[in-house]
Amino acid sequence: MRKPFINKPFEEYILRGKNIIVGICGGIAAYKTPHLVRLLKKSGANVKVALTDAGARFVSELSLATVSQEQVYRSMFPPTDKAGMDFTRHISLGEWADALVIAPATANTLAKLASGLCDDMLTACFITLRPGKPVLIFPAMDGQMYLSPSVRRNIRTLAAQGAIIVNPESGDLASGQCGTGRMPEPESIVRDIEQAMLSSIERSMLHGKTIVVTAGPTREKIDDVRFISNYSSGKMGFAIARAAALRKAKVTLITGPVHLETPPGVERIDIESAIEMHAAAVNFFSSCDIFIGAAAVADYRPSVYYGGKMKKESGELQCTLVKNPDILADFGSRKTGSQLAIGFALEQENGLENAGKKLESKNLDLIALNFFDRKTSGFEVDTNILTLINREGEITELPQLNKDEAARKLLDMIEAIYRKTSIDT
Ligand code: C5P
Repeated sequence: MRKPFINKPFEEYILRGKNIIVGICGGIAAYKTPHLVRLLKKSGANVKVALTDAGARFVSELSLATVSQEQVYRSMFPPTDKAGMDFTRHISLGEWADALVIAPATANTLAKLASGLCDDMLTACFITLRPGKPVLIFPAMDGQMYLSPSVRRNIRTLAAQGAIIVNPESGDLASGQCGTGRMPEPESIVRDIEQAMLSSIERSMLHGKTIVVTAGPTREKIDDVRFISNYSSGKMGFAIARAAALRKAKVTLITGPVHLETPPGVERIDIESAIEMHAAAVNFFSSCDIFIGAAAVADYRPSVYYGGKMKKESGELQCTLVKNPDILADFGSRKTGSQLAIGFALEQENGLENAGKKLESKNLDLIALNFFDRKTSGFEVDTNILTLINREGEITELPQLNKDEAARKLLDMIEAIYRKTSIDT
């Protein structure tokens, strides 16, 4: 039943789906930044550029918008046609980002960052970046400027705040002199970002945790060629498994029939019916730290299974359905200590109320209410609109996100539960 454990290096995937801000200041090395943005995009990252006014003198906004496929952010103030609508623009980038990379960082911007000034989008997102998200700063300037006591002091201040300062390289400088001050090549910057993301994962609360995720549909056989099933593609469950493995959790993915590749570092168990999924899941009930039920388990199965192919007869065919085991509820009723049960609720009406009831009745710690319209959210599509509800009844509404991003938000919420429990106890 089990497929071999696939373990590709995490570095190859680490930037996939990550939100990265590239902050660009006014130094000659800015001419290398469209290439940096391209490399990050090629690694699967979503990139937004925050460009200072001085930076815009060295590299064109149009080039950066083209390679990032996003608008370029400069002023904290919205364009006049959006004035009065874009109230949270100054914090929007910082909230969105998984990492901030400032390359090249000039003496002027280093001074602003060190003193907490924020008068443009680049400096604003440094201040509004969420805790724990890596900041990488690549100072690049003339060698004498780099050695000046003011620059040294600002760099020390930023390093003490947790920023990763990557020293400039030595070589020919734009001033015609030879010395230290060159920005590293974009390829090397990308490697540093990968490394920083990996180390931030080392600090994840999910590191080393054992997580079981159920995914996909189940098939309930009528006979050897027919079954009852649903439209679940398994994408949400696979995205959760992938995101959890990237945080170095030990992930087992129990999945119904889907057309998806096993995420790297995830142990996959293929099953067909709800009964098989239940049997596979029960083996992990006592040992797992977190059980996430993302599968669309068929609620019913035919009471009788016909071996072979049922013959077509004239008239009606009666098929009695019997209830399948509720896998997640079974785990919820047996879980002990700090084990967490996480579920999904796909609802069309009275979503919050019904999801809240499910959270109670299945003894869950968190439930993700899944808006369902088959265009923007729910089965088969690549995006989801989730509302997360915890045991305290706190509600977090997420916007329409791709499933990788939605998975990360769900895991962030699980980490928050762990953090809260460790503070409470
Ligand atoms: O009750 P309902 O089917 O709406 O609950 C959905 C949640 O319960 C999902 O997390 C789903 O994976 C889980 N579930 C289960 N076994 C079932 C039915 C649902 O694990 N038989």
